[in-house]
Amino acid sequence: MSTKRHILVTSALPYANGPIHLGHMLEYIQTDIWVRFQRLRGHQCIFVCADDAHGTPIMLKARELGITPEKLVADTLVEHKRDFADFHIGVDNYHTTHSPENRELATLIYKRLNDAGHIAVRTIRQLYDEQAKMFLPDRFIKGSCPRCGTPDQYGDACEHCGSTYSPADLKNPVSVISGTRPVEKESEHYFFKLGDFEDMLHKWTRAGHLHEAVTRKLDEWFKAGLQDWDISRDAPYFGFEIPDAPGKYFYVWLDAPIGYMASFKNLCEQRKDLKFEEYWSKDSKQELYHFIGKDITYFHTLFWPAMLSGADFRTPTAVYAHGFLTVNGQKMSKSRGTFIKARTYLDHLKPEYLRYYFAAKLGSGVDDIDLNMDDFIQRINADLVGKYINIASRSAGFIHEYFQGAVKLPGDGELQGEPQQHPLLQEIKKNLAGTHKLYEARQFGAAISQIMKSADDINAFWDQQKPWELAKQKRLGELHAACSVAIESFKLLTVALKPVLPDTAEKVERFLNIAPLNWSDLSTQLPDWHRINQYTHLVIRIEPANTKAIVDASKENLTQTPTKAVANMEPIFPEISYDDFAKLDLRIARIAKAEHIEGADKLLRLTLDLGGETRNVFAGIKSAYAPGQLEGKLTVMVANLAPRKMKFGISEGMVLAAGPGGKDLWLLEPHAGAQPGMRVK
Ligand code: MSP
Ligand code: ZN
Repeated sequence: MSTKRHILVTSALPYANGPIHLGHMLEYIQTDIWVRFQRLRGHQCIFVCADDAHGTPIMLKARELGITPEKLVADTLVEHKRDFADFHIGVDNYHTTHSPENRELATLIYKRLNDAGHIAVRTIRQLYDEQAKMFLPDRFIKGSCPRCGTPDQYGDACEHCGSTYSPADLKNPVSVISGTRPVEKESEHYFFKLGDFEDMLHKWTRAGHLHEAVTRKLDEWFKAGLQDWDISRDAPYFGFEIPDAPGKYFYVWLDAPIGYMASFKNLCEQRKDLKFEEYWSKDSKQELYHFIGKDITYFHTLFWPAMLSGADFRTPTAVYAHGFLTVNGQKMSKSRGTFIKARTYLDHLKPEYLRYYFAAKLGSGVDDIDLNMDDFIQRINADLVGKYINIASRSAGFIHEYFQGAVKLPGDGELQGEPQQHPLLQEIKKNLAGTHKLYEARQFGAAISQIMKSADDINAFWDQQKPWELAKQKRLGELHAACSVAIESFKLLTVALKPVLPDTAEKVERFLNIAPLNWSDLSTQLPDWHRINQYTHLVIRIEPANTKAIVDASKENLTQTPTKAVANMEPIFPEISYDDFAKLDLRIARIAKAEHIEGADKLLRLTLDLGGETRNVFAGIKSAYAPGQLEGKLTVMVANLAPRKMKFGISEGMVLAAGPGGKDLWLLEPHAGAQPGMRVK
């Protein structure tokens, strides 16, 4: 085998405001198969990823849920990691872009670009929501298409006539956040001067780092001219503040790819054998590959190499873009039940079916890939169960019934006239060894066809040998040889399928009673009289009921559209003056009594002692406190809130508590020396 390579691989970072779906899985499975293949070949292959945690949609989603963005991205990270792990995605590190490493690296890269003169600052006009007090991204403005007049279109493109435009051109624009009409407002923005890198990029995009279809696409962009890239956003924004630019934040797409480096840096802190500089310095000898979807090509093949090169880091060895996943021939859609979450799939089927199906359909190009449910069932049952697993289940029975579980490959005349090594095994070894070029080139579909060709040959051999007749006729030597050839070839198939089916391969290793298989096992063979274990089910058939259950569980009520969710959002609080604040009469209150209310799930009835005066207040803190825990406690209340009529009576004030809700609600507890009725300053 060639010398040991040191390879760093990434998949694109999923946004931290939504679940992992099968579209993401296409990419992660593609990457994982390639990574596992490299590892089986004996190379060092490090696979790092992260959640993409920044940006306006994440900030707004957190507000909608009434939690901080930090909590949202932390919760999402746990779910994403679990989904990927359950699909056997073998990442070495799964980090987040909202991390200290990423802040440090984003700041460093920005400073280097700025020092080298690649950053420009200028004032732009942008639509602004005066009520929400924020500038609006294109997707948060709706109005009628300036071209065809269709109402309810986003600020960047019309879904009806397909034209693209700038949000200021929309007729009757409305902010999706507050429902008010936005106004144009000026603001200073920071730009990355992509044009400075035109020569470098022109060369880089033609130097074998990209698939030719991608290079062709890039040519269109070169022709259109490389524009300055707006890398800043105004507060409020969830992200990293730009150094020396208060109130300005890095646009999410600036720090997202830096998240690849940051995740690797974080891994280096855990693993002393890895050195950050060895992989990222300008003169790095290591290989670096990014797997991405075709929709984010511009970011990875223009902005990213330019940023890296401008900041004195190495550029990627290659960027591999794949096509989009469709389900039953259509874009994934919630109403049709084809927007399938990774978790919904896992609730009903084993991950390896999907890994195999994607592998069988993946090539190196950017073609879209369809998950057709009928074809999926057919393919898995025919290939994995019918062709591959059957070889083991049929031959293992005879091996145990007649030969105490021991294999003995022919070599001394059991198969009459056969040479030392069985020709079928020779043929299979040659064929399977040839798949390494296909794996390396991400031609997984072609690799799978080639592997299944060997499976067909073994099954043809089996049918021609008719072991069930050999058994009946007590021709045990021939029976033993035929079954041993079948078991040995099953082992070889398992080696070639191991990048795709890591879990099954592990079960096969247990069944065959052997050490973990490597690619080099395509040239080893089971020793004579090696004992295998009893066959237990390795892969079972898929039933149409399984895929139907997935589709049914994925159908969502259409009323839950994202726009609705944004409209339901908690209000964004307007700025208040000190005078407004001074109007609050904050006072220390003693909770004299706390009681359950019949029929209320959130509220408790509190009797508050204000030092001589008592108030009746309904407080939504039942999720965090039992009445017994509250009685006798001192807390802070707003004493001059106008009385409000509620379902259970009149509430005469408000108790102050802090926290995201649920169990996490903390009463503001004044010092023990405080007296009920005291004013709080
Ligand atoms: N956060 C950015 C990527 C930043 S990388 C520095 C992003 N996130 S995403 O969640 O929208 O997509 C993550 C990856 O999944 C992208 O490569 C995207 O192309 C891929 N896919 C998302 N939906 C997909 C399909 N339906 N089909 C195939 N891949 C798709 O973009
Ligand atoms: Zn239109």
